[in-house]
Amino acid sequence: MEGIHCTVGNPRAAAAIPAAGPLRLIAGDGRLEVMLCDLPPGAPCFVTPGSTPDALEVYYLLDGDLVLRMGEDETVLYPGGHFHTRGLSADIPVETRSGARLLMVSEGASFDRMNRCSAELWDLLRRAEDKDLHTHAHGIRVQSCALRICRRMGRTGEFGVSLGIAALFHDVGKCVIPDRILKKPGRLDPEEAAVVRMHPGESRRMLAGGFPDRIPRIAGQHHERLDGSGYPDHLSGDDILPEARILAVADAYDAMTSDRSYRRALPPVAALAELRAGAGRAYDPAVVAALEEMLEDEGILEDPHRIDPASRGRFASPAGIR
Ligand SMILES: [Fe+2]
Ligand SMILES: [Fe+2]
Repeated sequence: MEGIHCTVGNPRAAAAIPAAGPLRLIAGDGRLEVMLCDLPPGAPCFVTPGSTPDALEVYYLLDGDLVLRMGEDETVLYPGGHFHTRGLSADIPVETRSGARLLMVSEGASFDRMNRCSAELWDLLRRAEDKDLHTHAHGIRVQSCALRICRRMGRTGEFGVSLGIAALFHDVGKCVIPDRILKKPGRLDPEEAAVVRMHPGESRRMLAGGFPDRIPRIAGQHHERLDGSGYPDHLSGDDILPEARILAVADAYDAMTSDRSYRRALPPVAALAELRAGAGRAYDPAVVAALEEMLEDEGILEDPHRIDPASRGRFASPAGIR
């Protein structure tokens, strides 16, 4: 019949929220768009003013939970909860603990802007992780580790949301590194190492424009070290953002506990010992201490020879450049 568009769905489809769901456009005519968005548990994101801040945007929570952080205030939404925005003046950090399925209705054309950005980044992330000798899910693991450290340090709100997004996409810049360098077994020569050292700057460039400015800056600093020995800008001390110091430790920990082309994965106990040896010189001692407390509480340090089974066959970049 004319005038009706119907999608029946799949009666056998699980109601569960997928691990990482894209934004889907259900209906839209350029003036009004209806979208469905699945956020995996722990996923941080933002509600942003977008390119047309006067447009009305309605968000209706179908399943899961959603935490909105407005300044010091925290509002938790449950299924059936909803909010709308018009004339939003700043980004609002949003998190979900158990995952969330949202129905979004927007005046104007939000889908293109939001989907282009997230789909492109997820695509870049997949390409970067496939290139880098099977560092499959490195971004997701580093995000999880960084957010656990962040909570342990009592940092919440926008700090955690920015850190979570930067952690997920911190290595997307590896897309520009030629395969012959990224996949080279053994040590890199100085020119090859210089090319690898470009990737944090590339990550920063790729994230710029799609997120609030702090997020690309955090991602761009994940290889900076407290004593100025890092790269790409040789920042030191307080010039390194606090989120980037957490990201640096989470990233190094994940790389050390992953198989490398020239070394098998280290047990968490040994990786922690290396991080402790670098605390104060390369890594923020408070962050390393928070990681240690977290691993202790999670029972991960009980067996000094324990190797995470998931670390087998997973490789970090060659020559210790992560
Ligand atoms: Fe990394
Ligand atoms: Fe990196």
